[in-house]
Amino acid sequence: MKVTDTIKGLRKHISDSGLSPLALVPTMGALHNGHISLVEKAVGECPITVVSIFVNPTQFNDKNDLKNYPRTLEKDLEMLGKVLGEHDVVFTPPVEEMYPEEDRRVFTFGNLDNVMEAVHRPGHFNGVAQIVSRLFEIVAPDIAIFGLKDFQQLAVIRELVKQTGNKVRIIGSPIIREKDGLAMSSRNMLLEPAIRKDAAIIYKTITSAAAMLQNSDIPETKQYVKNEIEKPENFELIYFEIVDDEQLIPIKSKREMNKNMKYFGCIAVKAGNIRLIDNVEI
Ligand code: PAJ
Repeated sequence: MKVTDTIKGLRKHISDSGLSPLALVPTMGALHNGHISLVEKAVGECPITVVSIFVNPTQFNDKNDLKNYPRTLEKDLEMLGKVLGEHDVVFTPPVEEMYPEEDRRVFTFGNLDNVMEAVHRPGHFNGVAQIVSRLFEIVAPDIAIFGLKDFQQLAVIRELVKQTGNKVRIIGSPIIREKDGLAMSSRNMLLEPAIRKDAAIIYKTITSAAAMLQNSDIPETKQYVKNEIEKPENFELIYFEIVDDEQLIPIKSKREMNKNMKYFGCIAVKAGNIRLIDNVEI
């Protein structure tokens, strides 16, 4: 695999390979098996894959979160070396390479801007759209792979592609979990041991909530989720919403469900000082 931190180097590796179609897997590094599953999918789909590793400052609404975000480049490259081939490229730009000037672009995503993560992390998806659109411009991928773990992000990116008329095909990939069910996340390594142990409650609760919805309606299911999540010390429910997978409109009662649409239960939890998200299909 090739590794480069410049746009020029990246473009040269791609054109020298003469290969297409090309797959892009954008990441912020601190890689785990969730990320690797996306890379494996990319390698299976295309003869050349670009994996970007860039902790994008414009999507962090909390400057402490940006400062504390784990950075493990050496280990990341070791993991990627096991799945990427000789023509694949890891792109590790510094901030000045991605943002030679301040990015002032403002994106709007309709309802996607008004729910869940967008409410609790103002500006977050604008930053995601800035970096992903910039990566699409630089890499010009035929396909780009994103995890269903970041459910709202995937919907935002599909909308971004629709708005910009880009021809890239967006692929959503399933959530990879730890043995106890916790969704893999770069932030898991920041959890204190006791909190990490209790964090298994998140997936357990949302799967029980999905089952409970067979016989109960949404208000009591939401109350159940809040009670369960807040049982361990230092756990706080930020939200639990049942939404469709296109507009992500939260529903208040099962009566609002449309048989032709898919619904997901999406949760955000403050576990100690760390914010965790997860979701399950209902
Ligand atoms: P990051 O959190 O590093 O995630 C990179 C990709 O890996 C995202 O598409 C995310 O959904 C996926 N991913 C993370 N954990 C996963 C898991 N347990 N199972 C499956 N996929 C998982 O998401 C970002 O970075 C950034 O916002 C980015 C899109 C790179 C823009 O900066």
